[in-house]
Amino acid sequence: MPTEPVIEVHLPEDHAARSLAADVRRGLATSPKMLPPKWFYDANGSELFEEITRLPEYYPTRAEREILAARSGEIAAVTGAHTLVELGSGSSEKTRLLLNALRDNGTLRQIVALDVSESALREASAALHAEYPSAAVHGVVGDFTEHLGLLPGEPPRLVAFLGGTIGNLLPDERAKFLGSVRDVLEPGEWLLLGTDLVKDAGTLVRAYDDAAGVTAEFNRNVLRVLNRELSANFDLDAFAHVALWDPDNEWIEMRLRAVRPVRARIAGLDMEVEFAAGEELHTEISAKFRRERVDEELTAAGFALEHWWTDAEGRFGVSLSRAAG
Ligand code: SAH
Ligand code: TRP
Repeated sequence: MPTEPVIEVHLPEDHAARSLAADVRRGLATSPKMLPPKWFYDANGSELFEEITRLPEYYPTRAEREILAARSGEIAAVTGAHTLVELGSGSSEKTRLLLNALRDNGTLRQIVALDVSESALREASAALHAEYPSAAVHGVVGDFTEHLGLLPGEPPRLVAFLGGTIGNLLPDERAKFLGSVRDVLEPGEWLLLGTDLVKDAGTLVRAYDDAAGVTAEFNRNVLRVLNRELSANFDLDAFAHVALWDPDNEWIEMRLRAVRPVRARIAGLDMEVEFAAGEELHTEISAKFRRERVDEELTAAGFALEHWWTDAEGRFGVSLSRAAG
């Protein structure tokens, strides 16, 4: 039995400083201003996200858990996976349902978790190692849009991408991401994908603008990351959280709106940035899907959708697809 989970850091020491600097320089110089969402997830951001998953308004986690609770046995039987690879694993909380089923099925040998948040990954890897002593646990700190080629794991592998995180990528980024997942798999290996579904705007907006203000805190956390990593001086109170449903693109858009004119200095970049009153910083989208679109995008990337399940209320979809030959 391995005594320690193996943790590999595939991000350079200065990843935060260098790659964040490039993203901030580029993102704050464009109109509208924008920042990529992975910068939400420092230790504080990962904790705030866990809090979001427990909010009464944030249904996706509960809906996906309901599906996994009902279908994990079937998923284990159909895939017979030896390795479960989870991308954007966070706390790997719902993943236990899959792991228990694979263990009970007698096939589980290896667990690979990849996340950009080192704190969340270390905590989850240690917990998985303790809970699944007969499996080798391998944690990878990395960016799933860049580092998939480096994933270890003994076939047949089941790659799980849960939480609707695929919706945080733009359509062209999604196509590229799904293609790169397909590229690292052998024909016949598996992808389990969680997708939040299109529904009434009120339910969607409430899920991203909760009454307790946790999502607002989470959104503003990106400014806290800039203040810390790049010695910036953003006043977090000067920005309001905005969540909008875009019915044409069928995605939620998260923004931070300056409530007054804001001038901030980013000392680490020797840069000043100004926001007019009402000007918005685009921080994240969360795309919502219909079954047909999931099927189309999977097919285009070289997967064949074999199973599609939703929760009883039809709020969330989980698809199981196979890498085509
Ligand atoms: N899978 C979990 C967490 C979803 S939140 C769940 O279903 O609840 C999204 C997760 O993806 C976070 O843990 C975040 O740190 C991670 N993440 C976001 N962008 C990433 C990227 N580019 N590369 C790797 N992980 C990323
Ligand atoms: N993957 C999650 C989602 O799209 C991430 C998320 C939840 C999120 N709430 C958020 C991202 C608020 C930014 C802001 O549902």
